[in-house]
Amino acid sequence: MSNSIINISIEEINQQKIYAQQVKAIEKVHSSYHVVTYGCQMNEHDSQKISGMLEHMGFTMAEDRTKADIVIFNTCCIRENANRRALGNIIWLKETKKKRPHMLIGVCGCMMEQKGMAEKILKQYPFIDFALGTGNLYKLPEILYNVIAGDIRCIRVSENQSTLVEGLPLVRPTREKAYISIMQGCNNFCSYCIVPYVRGRERSRKSADILKEAEALLKDGVKEIMLLGQNVNSYGKGTGDMTFPELLRALDIIGVPRIRFMTSHPKDLSPELIEEYAKSKGLCGHLHLPVQSGSDRVLELMNRGYDRESYKHKVMELRKAVPDIGITSDIIVAFPTETDEDFEQTLQLVKEIRYDSAFTFVYSPRAGTKAYNMKGKIPKEIATERIERLIAIQENITKEVLKEQLGKTCNVLVEGVSRRDETMLTGKNERNISVNFTANNKNLVGEIVKVKITDFGSNTLRGIGV
Ligand code: 5AD
Ligand code: SF4
Repeated sequence: MSNSIINISIEEINQQKIYAQQVKAIEKVHSSYHVVTYGCQMNEHDSQKISGMLEHMGFTMAEDRTKADIVIFNTCCIRENANRRALGNIIWLKETKKKRPHMLIGVCGCMMEQKGMAEKILKQYPFIDFALGTGNLYKLPEILYNVIAGDIRCIRVSENQSTLVEGLPLVRPTREKAYISIMQGCNNFCSYCIVPYVRGRERSRKSADILKEAEALLKDGVKEIMLLGQNVNSYGKGTGDMTFPELLRALDIIGVPRIRFMTSHPKDLSPELIEEYAKSKGLCGHLHLPVQSGSDRVLELMNRGYDRESYKHKVMELRKAVPDIGITSDIIVAFPTETDEDFEQTLQLVKEIRYDSAFTFVYSPRAGTKAYNMKGKIPKEIATERIERLIAIQENITKEVLKEQLGKTCNVLVEGVSRRDETMLTGKNERNISVNFTANNKNLVGEIVKVKITDFGSNTLRGIGV
């Protein structure tokens, strides 16, 4: 895998545009597409680009994957069950393809950047037509041209691992919200994590390109921009022309009504970023700050670069700056050698921090990572028991946090009509909690409105528009 940073040249992008025109000109058999997405927001964003490129080539979206002419699976490999789920669904489509042999099936995403995986999959499953790595996504037109015109199976992975591509077309599913990818890759090498191996080293986009994209989105009516990166608060390190807090400042100045970002690493949460939370008009009062474990011994083994005290201190500083901030987390249980005592420390930390919510995972060994070879595997029964205890405790805290919102007024970005109750509108408040509410005016989609909270469910709030 190459670690050098390559910005794809205009010539290369133009070459892909020519391939796209050629696909459009020769295509007679395939007209529709469907993209199946697994994993994180970064993958969702990549899928929006895949859809954008396909529509640019003249294909239209099909709701049902079994009726589409081209199906692309955008995979995730963060845990073994993510791999299994994607593979299961890909294999399931084999029967459909027997009845509709013209169907093209492609696989892309992080799984295709696992060493030897793309070759293995194409060898093992002859009904798959092409494989595309995350660093080569922009080459979809070329691949499709080869597959359609040349009637051959194709692989494009790894050789351009560290690419940043500007200006790809994109299909945005919602009008009011948009993603902007600001950096890619990760240099942290947490011992359990496969991301640095499949997404490569950290590389940041130029701030001018990001701001230009944000301005275009604002003109298009977007109200909320989510900045994406595997480690967003590393933005700008080494290659960038701004730090992450400076980028947030610049976005606030151009008037982005709502700014969010995902994901940040506790060790890089700087005083400047905390200050920006206090200062910024647009930055939402929510931070996803994965702690992973509450035990210093386990944090060290995980190579996280902080301990529970420094994590707690940063959360305290944040809450001083923004008293109403909502904090969410990712937590892994049953990391190799995790003792009952280590786990109790995690439970204790969860109770002290009082997260709005947390994603909880049982440790999954990933080949190639440092933890893969660690001794002290935790038996499945113990892992299950631990995650169930953790979930129960977090659910109780979530309920308490929701209850604390009763009587308060919050700002909600309206996304549409509630799925459960057509008389209600739904959206997210600044803390990223779903709020269902009644309002006299139903033409509020895409607007930020004030809602008074009157009730709560297991993970949603209910209220009245004011
Ligand atoms: N096993 C379990 N969970 C993992 N995560 C990352 N790698 C693993 C793994 N090998 C979790 C972390 C991370 C989130 C995106 O996925 O909690 O923050
Ligand atoms: Fe994985 Fe750690 Fe990088 Fe997050 S910071 S992507 S958990 S290596």
